[in-house]
Amino acid sequence: MKIAFVASEAVPYSKTGGLADVAGVLPAALQKLGCKVKLFIPKYSSIDESKYGLRYCWNIGEMQIRVGSAVRSVHIHTSTLPGSEVEVYFVDCPYYFFRGQIYTDDPDEDERFILFSKAVLQTLLKTKWIPDVIHCNDWQTGLIPLYIKNNFKEEGVFNKTSTLFTIHNVAYQGRFSRSAVYSAGIQKNLFYAGGPVEYFGDVSFMKAAISFSDIINTVSKTYAEEILTPEFGSGMEGILGDRKTDLFGILNGVDYEQWDPENDSLIPYSYSLNDFSGKLKNKEFLCEHFNLACTGDTPLIGIVSRMASQKGFDLFAEVADQLMELNAQWIVLGSGDEKYENLFRYLAAFYPDRLSAYIGFNTELSHLIEAGADIFLMPSHYEPCGLNQIYSLKYGTVPVVRKTGGLADTVRDWGESAASGNDDGNGFTFTEYSGSSMLEAINRAVSTFGNKPVWRKLQQNGMKAVFSWDRAANEYLNLYKISQQKRQSGL
Ligand code: ADP
Ligand code: GLC
Repeated sequence: MKIAFVASEAVPYSKTGGLADVAGVLPAALQKLGCKVKLFIPKYSSIDESKYGLRYCWNIGEMQIRVGSAVRSVHIHTSTLPGSEVEVYFVDCPYYFFRGQIYTDDPDEDERFILFSKAVLQTLLKTKWIPDVIHCNDWQTGLIPLYIKNNFKEEGVFNKTSTLFTIHNVAYQGRFSRSAVYSAGIQKNLFYAGGPVEYFGDVSFMKAAISFSDIINTVSKTYAEEILTPEFGSGMEGILGDRKTDLFGILNGVDYEQWDPENDSLIPYSYSLNDFSGKLKNKEFLCEHFNLACTGDTPLIGIVSRMASQKGFDLFAEVADQLMELNAQWIVLGSGDEKYENLFRYLAAFYPDRLSAYIGFNTELSHLIEAGADIFLMPSHYEPCGLNQIYSLKYGTVPVVRKTGGLADTVRDWGESAASGNDDGNGFTFTEYSGSSMLEAINRAVSTFGNKPVWRKLQQNGMKAVFSWDRAANEYLNLYKISQQKRQSGL
């Protein structure tokens, strides 16, 4: 099966969050299952051409792509995804993608991804490589299903190509003023109140994707249910409800080539299920790096996160002083919303022996925190999948999470498992979105840390669990087949 996998970021080239982790690994897992996969991403100025051996595609040459009244020149470069045979296509248009950051608040943010989506389709046409399935991810690629079903209908060239749209976060929707109808070249008869593209008078790329994709999925089973409710659907619950039979949940996997304490090149001391000694050394190294005096007896709690309201830091603010009184130390890595950045800057200044924070994006440090911390906190308000709690399990770093979305599907509360007569818990969870519930769960984790045999069991349960991409890739393959059937039967 031929798959065009389209995303706005992918490791190792560009990353702001978990989407990049998925887009940089799932294509290779699909290729291993016998699919022929091509990955398409924008060529941002931050991508190191020589490091990744990008080659200019002379056979494609210059393409002229219309965005509204402007016509932009686009070039394509290719490379091979490291460790695989997946060909990566970089859409090169400096006018839109040389901006210093991957996503912007610039007034032409819609145009950037209109151009990207159109360029992907032009490249497929020019190279005469017509995929069976185009796998789109998040709103940045949301117009592709619309184009396939409408703008190319007459030509018929994509009539057998089906589309799968993966929602990594329903709250980010690509909502733009109605002028985007013109910029995107959306047929006028598709834009009307209550129609497939219109959202409160604006254009929604997410709604267009949900309307026109053959199949839709999100990144955990629980989140697939949650987004059908007003609390978590961010306004899309109605249209998602209309497509309920085409909506699936597939939990993300983990790339254990990159995230495994036994052979992680980004941590100083490796360790494993059979020999934990390196973990304590990583903790000491990390504490030294962060200027915290640490001991083996005081739990070190790590946070690595985008600082967005989704991630639950309002709860942290609510009970911050109580958290700082616990017998625990904190290391925080993250960037984003200034409100949360400043919360952690303040706490680091006020409680220098308790909490240390690095405000910024730093991949090496994210691995080091996973390896050195004892406990990992993710109090998310909502979490489509979440990867850091799964990394934490592998690193024997016990997660404390709110029971929502993918967090609910991956972390089993120790107390709950014990109450049902099992000892298969791998972390601590809380349900109510409140500072006091979060504090209660953290308290349980901190006090359990003192009970070494129980703690070791918790760590082992997490480290033994396997969240592989092979399982997820098989599930995706199945969805591709369903999307093909739907397309062929014209449903
Ligand atoms: P989301 O995609 O919502 O941000 P995920 O848990 O799915 O959440 O994925 C986040 C990814 O981004 C993880 O790989 C995590 O390690 C990484 N990450 C988040 N913030 C930072 C940061 N400040 N520095 C380095 N890596 C980060
Ligand atoms: C989004 C979600 C996160 C998920 C990631 C990858 O950024 O917020 O929960 O893990 O996408 O699917």
